[in-house]
Amino acid sequence: MSNIEEIFEKYISSRIFKDREKLLPDYVPRELPHRDNQIRRLATILAPALGGSRPSNVFIYGLTGTGKTAVTKYVLRKLYEKAKKKIEFTYVNCRQNDTSYRVLAELARSIGVRVPFTGLATSEVMKRFLDGLERKARILIVVLDEIDHLVKKHGDDVLYFLTRINEQLSRSRVTIIGITNDLKFMEFLDARVKSSLGEEELVFPPYTATELEDILRKRAEEALHSDVLHGGVIPTVAAIAARQNGDCRLALDLLLKAADIAERMGSPHITLDHVKLAQKEIERNLTIDVIKTMPLHVKLVLAAIYLLEDENYRMVTTGAIYNKYTDITRSLGVEPVTQRRVSDIINELDMLGLINAKVVSMGRYGRTKVISLSASKGSIREGLREDIFLANIL
Ligand SMILES: Nc1ncnc2c1ncn2[C@@H]1O[C@H](COP(=O)(O)OP(=O)(O)OP(=O)(O)O)[C@@H](O)[C@H]1O
Ligand SMILES: [Mg+2]
Repeated sequence: MSNIEEIFEKYISSRIFKDREKLLPDYVPRELPHRDNQIRRLATILAPALGGSRPSNVFIYGLTGTGKTAVTKYVLRKLYEKAKKKIEFTYVNCRQNDTSYRVLAELARSIGVRVPFTGLATSEVMKRFLDGLERKARILIVVLDEIDHLVKKHGDDVLYFLTRINEQLSRSRVTIIGITNDLKFMEFLDARVKSSLGEEELVFPPYTATELEDILRKRAEEALHSDVLHGGVIPTVAAIAARQNGDCRLALDLLLKAADIAERMGSPHITLDHVKLAQKEIERNLTIDVIKTMPLHVKLVLAAIYLLEDENYRMVTTGAIYNKYTDITRSLGVEPVTQRRVSDIINELDMLGLINAKVVSMGRYGRTKVISLSASKGSIREGLREDIFLANIL
C-alpha cells in the first residue's frame, strides 16, 4: 500500500472492514486451511533444492478456485525465506504471458538477462537464458501457472525446451512446476514432455461447504471487524460456492461483494440480504461477460428475443424470433443466417442459461416451442448494448 493510501485509510473509519485487502483474490493468507496435505507434499518435493540437488518437476491440477496458485506461492515463499540466495524462483502466469516469446523473456529477465520486448528469435532468447543461467550456477524453480493457455495457443516448444534444458546445463539446474485447471490439458502434450513434467503430480480436490466455511471465517477474521457478520452469512456463502464446484475464489468474491454492499448502504452488519444482492451482482457480471464474447448473429438472435419480450409479444416462438431477427438484420444492413441456424442458436442460448425454451402443447394445433428470457432482462440489455452495433436498436 502506498503511503498516501495509508494516510487516507486511517481517516476513513470503516464500520465493516478492518483490512479490505485481505479479501482480495491476489492476497496469499497466512494460513491455508484444508490444504495441509498439498502444502506438505509440495514442500517435500521441493526441499532437496535446499541441499543443492534438483527437485523433481511437479504437475499440479484441480478445478478453478481450489487453491493451486495460493498453495504454490505460499510454499515458494517459505522456501525462499529458508534458501535466501541459494535458489532462484520465477513465477509466470501463462494467461497473461501467452506467447512462447513472452514466457521465455520473463524467464530470462527473472535471472537478470535483458531481453527486448520483441524482435529476437525465440531460439536466441532460449540461448541467452541458458547462458545466463549457466553463469549463475543455481537451481531455478520455474512456476508456469495456467500453463494450458500457453500450450493450446502456441504448442509445447517452450515446455519441450525447459524439460530438456538440464541436459545442456552443467552448473545449474531447472525444476518446473506446471499448474492447470484444464484436466484434459495433458492430452495436448508430447509424450516426452508429459512424462517429464509429470515426475510428481499433485491433485487439488474441490472444497466442501464445511471446508469453505472454515476458510471464509479465517479470511473474514483478517479482513472484517468482529461481530459484523450475521449468523447465516458464512454458511450461505459457503453453500453457494460449494455448489459451484467448491470454488473458493467465488466464495471470497461473494463475501467481499456482500461486505461492500453493506458498507455502501451504511449498514453496521453484513446480512443475508446483502449476500443476495451480491449474488445478483455476480450473476449480472457473468451474463454481461458471456454476451460480450458472443458472435454477432448470436447476439442478434438474443436481441430479437429481448425485443419481443419488451413488446409483450404473446407467444415467442422460433418463427416469431426469426421474423424479428430478419427485421433487425435488414435495419442494420447485414446478411441474415438461415432459419435452421437461428434454431440452433436458440438452443445454444438455452444451454448458456440466457433463455428458457419450453415445449408447450397447443391442443389440436400440436406442440410448439415457447421461448422466454431467463437471465435478468436488465443485464441482457446491458450486455447487448456493449456492442456499438446493437446499442442503437435497443
Ligand atoms: N485454503 C485456503 N485458505 C484461504 N484462502 C484460500 C484457500 N484456498 C484458496 N484460497 C483463496 O481462494 C482464491 C482462489 O484460489 P487460487 O487462486 O489459489 O485458485 P486456483 O486453484 O489457482 O484457481 P485457478 O485454476 O482458477 O487459477 C484465492 O484468493 C486464494 O487466496
Ligand atoms: Mg490459479
